Amino acid sequence: MKHKKLKIGILGFGTVGQSLYEVLQKSPSTSAVIEKVVARNPNKKRNIEIKNLSFDTREITESTEIDTVVELINDDIEAFKILKTAFENGKNVVSGNKKMIAENLQKIIDLQNQTGQSILYDASACGSIPVIRNLEEYYDNDLLQNITGILNGSSNYILTQMYRHNKSYNEALTEAQEKGFAEHDPVFDVDGFDAMYKLIILTLHGFGTIAKPKDIFFTGISGISESDIRFAREKGLKIKLIAHACKVPGNKVALFVMPAFVEQKNYLYNVDDEFNGVIIEGDAYDKQLMFGKGAGGHPTGSAVLSDISALSHQYKYEYKKLHLPKPPGVSDDILLKLYFRYEKPETIDILPLQTIEEQYVGPAFHYTVGTVKLADLLINSENLRKFVSFMALRNISKESIITHYANKKHYRQQLIPVD
Ligand SMILES: NC(=O)c1ccc[n+]([C@@H]2O[C@H](COP(=O)([O-])OP(=O)(O)OC[C@H]3O[C@@H](n4cnc5c(N)ncnc54)[C@H](OP(=O)(O)O)[C@@H]3O)[C@@H](O)[C@H]2O)c1
Repeated sequence: MKHKKLKIGILGFGTVGQSLYEVLQKSPSTSAVIEKVVARNPNKKRNIEIKNLSFDTREITESTEIDTVVELINDDIEAFKILKTAFENGKNVVSGNKKMIAENLQKIIDLQNQTGQSILYDASACGSIPVIRNLEEYYDNDLLQNITGILNGSSNYILTQMYRHNKSYNEALTEAQEKGFAEHDPVFDVDGFDAMYKLIILTLHGFGTIAKPKDIFFTGISGISESDIRFAREKGLKIKLIAHACKVPGNKVALFVMPAFVEQKNYLYNVDDEFNGVIIEGDAYDKQLMFGKGAGGHPTGSAVLSDISALSHQYKYEYKKLHLPKPPGVSDDILLKLYFRYEKPETIDILPLQTIEEQYVGPAFHYTVGTVKLADLLINSENLRKFVSFMALRNISKESIITHYANKKHYRQQLIPVD
C-alpha cells in the first residue's frame, strides 16, 4: 500500500502529548515529522523543551504545511471544535479524547463522510490495547456476543490496593493520585464516566450501535467500603468495575457499567493494578482476553503513534458494523441480579425489585440480593447514587445476568454468560 510521510501538529503537551513526543523519538521508522506543538499556558514549566512550541491552536488547524492534527487536549468541547476545523481544512485527526468522541459519534461519522477526512482514536479506549481496530477488523462478522471489560485503570488500581493491602478507599485514591493514575478531580474515573464513554466507543465498533450516555446505566467505585472488600474476600471473590455490552434477544445490545463480584475462574480476576482487560466473546470462538496498560502517558502515546502510522498507510475506520442492514438497538429490557448495601432500611424501597433472594439487617448496614430491571436502574440512577452505598453483581458467573423475552406476564429466564 502507498505510504505517506505525515506532517503532524500535536495539540496538547501534557501527559500524553509529551509521551507521544518521546515515543516518536524511539520510533524513527514512523513516517511522521512533528511540525508544531501547541499547548495552552505559555508560563508553564515544561519537562521537555522543544523549539516548535506555540500557544495558538490556529498554527496547527490552519497551517498549510500540517496534514495531520494529533489532538491531545483535556477539553472535550474545544477538542470537537478542533476536529471540525481540521476536517474543514483538509486534515486528518488522531485523538484520545473518549468523552469528545463518545458524545459526538454520529456527528463525527457525518463529518468524515462530508469532508472525506478521517479520525482514528484507538488511544481513547484502553490505552495501549488495540481493542477498537480489532473489533473493527478482526471481529468483522456476526459472531460477537459480549464485550466485558475493566476499562478504567484508576478504579482498578484503587480496588486492588483496597483488596491486597486492606487500604481504605480514601487512602487508595490518594495513592493513585500520587502515582499519577488518578486525576486531581477523580470523579470522571471513579464514578464510572470514563468506562461508560469507552463502552460507547467499543459498542459502535463491536456491534454497530450508537448509544448515547443517557441510555447507559453506569456507576463507579466511590461507594465501596472495606466491609464490601471483606465480604468479597471471604467468598473468594474480588470486586472490579466492569463495563458490559451484551447482545440480547430481539437484535439489541444491553449496556451498563457497575462494580461486580468476580470469581477466580473469570479472566478478569487477575487483571489488577492499573491494568485493563477486555473479554471479547462470540459464537464459535468463545472467550478471548485482551490485556495490557490501559492508561498512562507512554502506553497511551504508543496507541497514538500506532494511529499516526495507520493514517500514513491511509487506514480509516469503515464502521463496518454500522453498515449492517439492521444494526442492533439499545435495550434496557433485561434483569440483573445485584447485591445492594445501604445504611437506612427504607433505601431499598426506592427500587422495584423483581425478586429478593437474600436480605440481611444488621446494626451497621443492611444488604439485599435480588433482581432488578436495567430500565429501573436507569430511571433511578440519581437516587441510587445518593442512597445506595454500593451495588454490584452478586456473582459474575452464569447466573449473574438474566434476560427475559418480551412476554410481559411471564419471565422466561435466559442466562447470558458475562465472564
Ligand atoms: N493520561 C492518560 O492516561 C490518558 C489515557 C487515554 C486517553 N487520554 C486522553 O488524552 C487526552 C490528553 O490527556 P492528558 O492526560 O495528556 O491531559 P493533560 O496532562 O491534562 O494535558 C492536557 C494538555 O492540553 C493542553 N490544552 C488544554 N486545552 C488546550 C487548548 N484549548 N489548546 C491547546 N492546548 C490545550 C494543556 O496545555 P498546558 O500544558 O499549557 O496546560 C496540556 O498540555 C485527553 O483527552 C484524555 O482523555 C489520556
